[in-house]
Amino acid sequence: MSKKAVITGIDAFLPDYILTNDELSRMVDTTDEWIMTRIGVRERRILKEDGLGTSFMGEQAVKRLLKKTGTSADEIDMLVCATVTPDMLFPATANIICDKVGIMNAWGYDINAGCSGFIFTLSSIAPLIETGKVKKAIIVTGERMSSITDYQDRTTCPLFGDAAVAMLVELSEDESLGLMDSILHVDGVGRQYLYQKAGGSLYPPTHETIDKREHYIYQDGPVVFKYAVSRMADVSVEIMKKHNITSEDVAFLIPHQANLRIIDATGKRMGLEKEKILINIEKFGNTAGTSIPLVLWENEDKFKKGDTLILSAFGAGFTWGALYYRWGYDSVKA
Ligand code: UT7
Repeated sequence: MSKKAVITGIDAFLPDYILTNDELSRMVDTTDEWIMTRIGVRERRILKEDGLGTSFMGEQAVKRLLKKTGTSADEIDMLVCATVTPDMLFPATANIICDKVGIMNAWGYDINAGCSGFIFTLSSIAPLIETGKVKKAIIVTGERMSSITDYQDRTTCPLFGDAAVAMLVELSEDESLGLMDSILHVDGVGRQYLYQKAGGSLYPPTHETIDKREHYIYQDGPVVFKYAVSRMADVSVEIMKKHNITSEDVAFLIPHQANLRIIDATGKRMGLEKEKILINIEKFGNTAGTSIPLVLWENEDKFKKGDTLILSAFGAGFTWGALYYRWGYDSVKA
């Protein structure tokens, strides 16, 4: 065994504006009752201001993280941003955040893995930390989902919210803490069920693509639901079995927050009591790759050093996977 990549600090930025189900039900034909029973969301945060994108939220989250952990921008040697709503197609939002924060000695890039963005990013940079090539990395997960959500489409607009989280990742004090293992998957099956059709190289923007509302999220909800339920549950159980982890051993499941029914099904398959399944979908909706970090941030003071966490996600692509993670510090929320 050797030392692992471990999160040593976490902070977040949430936009002030709260979009409630009541307000949504004045925009499209829906009700609070439908949204609560079918999805489990009551409200979500929205970055309303024009001229601000994902990098703005990422910048705020990183500044808070640096302050909270007493880290200077000069010490950071890598910054990776997981997002499906970058400020622009290029350059990467990671670059823009570095510039805004004054991180001048780092390299980095964006990762587009849909709602699995965080688990893919931590798994991708862990070897760089473990080999000593990178000493202090920041992972930013940030989504301005409202920028690609069609507020005339009742099947998708209740789902999504905006937020950013920043995490400091370093080498663990000892080999029993940090990212122990990950099982990750991609396939192209999902590309017809969950995507933003236009705006890329296949369908560049035209008046027609705008008229046809093809710059917004398209989702075949029931199909995605079926895949999400089976794959998130399967991969979570698989990583437990692989490491002989029982439901008693698991301190908490941190699931992607897409739908309360998907989360319940995953927890049930893992044999977990309800108290061990961390959920905040009611307050923030689906913030894509930011949802798992947002749960970590909100519950930071609950975790104890050495706690076994299973992080499990499913998203556009499809992408899916689970992490076996042992929390790295006893924390009190600042
Ligand atoms: O995060 C990335 C991965 N994404 C996911 O994991 C999301 C997976 N999918 C889902 O969570 C669910 O499929 C949704 C929440 C998106 C939809 O829930 P559903 O239970 O699958 O509903 P449905 O699409 O089958 O629609 C059932 C009915 C339909 O009416 P009819 O045809 O039965 O008359 C819809 O038109 O509900 C209707 N409906 C609504 N009614 C009120 C759809 N959206 C709404 C709405 N308000 N907002």
